[in-house]
Amino acid sequence: MLDLAITKIHDEQRQGESFAPFKSDPNTYQKQFYIESYGCAMNFADSEVVAAILNKEGFGATRNMEEADLIFINTCSIREKAEQTVRKRLTDFKKLKAEKPGMLVGVLGCMAERLKSKFLEEEKLVDIVVGPDAYRSLPRLVDEASSGQKTVNVLLSREETYADIAPVRLNSNGVSAFVSIMRGCNNMCSFCVVPFTRGRERSRDAVSIIAECTDLFEKGYREVTLLGQNVDSYHYIPENGTEQDAVSFANLLEKVALISPDLRVRFSTSHPKDITDDVLHTMAAYENICKCIHLPVQSGSTRVLQLMNRTYTREWYKGKVDRIRELLPGCSITADIIAGFCSEEETDHQETLSIMEYSRYDLSYMFFYSERPGTLAQRRYKDDVPLEVKKRRLQEVIETQNRLSLENYTKDIGQTYKVLIDGDSKRSAEDWVGRTSQNKVVIFPKAAGAAHKKGDYVSVAINDCTQATLFGSIVQ
Ligand code: SAH
Ligand code: SF4
Ligand code: F3S
Repeated sequence: MLDLAITKIHDEQRQGESFAPFKSDPNTYQKQFYIESYGCAMNFADSEVVAAILNKEGFGATRNMEEADLIFINTCSIREKAEQTVRKRLTDFKKLKAEKPGMLVGVLGCMAERLKSKFLEEEKLVDIVVGPDAYRSLPRLVDEASSGQKTVNVLLSREETYADIAPVRLNSNGVSAFVSIMRGCNNMCSFCVVPFTRGRERSRDAVSIIAECTDLFEKGYREVTLLGQNVDSYHYIPENGTEQDAVSFANLLEKVALISPDLRVRFSTSHPKDITDDVLHTMAAYENICKCIHLPVQSGSTRVLQLMNRTYTREWYKGKVDRIRELLPGCSITADIIAGFCSEEETDHQETLSIMEYSRYDLSYMFFYSERPGTLAQRRYKDDVPLEVKKRRLQEVIETQNRLSLENYTKDIGQTYKVLIDGDSKRSAEDWVGRTSQNKVVIFPKAAGAAHKKGDYVSVAINDCTQATLFGSIVQ
């Protein structure tokens, strides 16, 4: 059995979550929209931009799709299964639409970008198709679709960062928020569809990022996660500025960390080739920059890494892990791993298992290879590892990760950590759930008589664990 707590497969981890911040005031909003998001954090952050655009147009968010005039699904194309999930969901919307003529269905995100107008041919119920860089045109598209015309805008942009749009926080717990700092990806990992669905890399105006983070802090948020497909290549040159005025990712991290020592800063994702010593030194210098690095390895075999076009070797990656351990003792390292990429042999697979042992990941997102149309791998290589072999290797990867997680978490027993309280534990309102700087989930009883609330920091002594959760009690 796959342990979902550990695998947290990207396109499944939050699937089916629908969002609505409030029951919209009918006096403010005459019409309602419902939005469901799939895929990575970038998509969830984009849905919050979409909500802001729609609010301005007089659409309020609803959690109840039956009462919606507009249904949006923000889609992911990363693996075939992610797309299948979306197709299945669309058949549910079909039933609803039959009962409610006039209701519009829109497809947003990466699958919209990948399939473009083909979507309208394949899925007759879809009225609107909008790619990730075209959300500003939503009001016009919705308008046109209301008059019965099917509409598509999948233009990718070299500039769009939605910098000036204040996202409407949809499903936030009021403690943590995502802040998008860049869009697109210039890497060409051969397995990956993202460069085709999200376009070229571009960095968002640093001033607008700091303003958004400051605003969040003032509203009571205590954690921001800076988001991008490849955050380490963040590079922003202010208008009329020169290279000398450029803001690097390390500079940006520092600026966000300086907002307040009580604001935790996280970031995702780092490409191993781009995370610099500068970033590591900045992380070391600020206690509130969380000691957790997501460093997707993908494979432990240099030969496979080359075919994947990851631009580093096994040895080079191990050197990066060493450097993190040296400059940031106690820092958590997590990874993404693909089992069964084109031509992967048993020896390559063993190298993946051994690099996991070397890196001692606290958590990994693990997948078997899924060929994506249009990618370099699909055009150049044969998807020749049989499905049962892919699944068996993935299972071995998962078992290795489960063991490593349990070993790592067991080492935390006896330690005391500063924990940011996220809210009530799901299992009991008598317990808090929070996270350490290393992003490990901690459950602990509420202290009798203490006035703690979510968003507070507490010291927790760890006394027990599973492979995905720490347990403890508050110490003064
Ligand atoms: N930008 C991030 C990753 C985005 S996609 C990065 O470079 O780290 C998230 C993860 O999905 C990837 O790291 C990879 O492990 C996995 N993935 C991407 N394409 C895939 C495919 N075709 N088959 C299986 N897994 C894939
Ligand atoms: Fe895809 Fe590679 Fe870009 Fe990540 S860095 S989004 S895996 S192409
Ligand atoms: Fe999926 Fe697009 Fe993110 S393909 S993983 S939603 S960038």
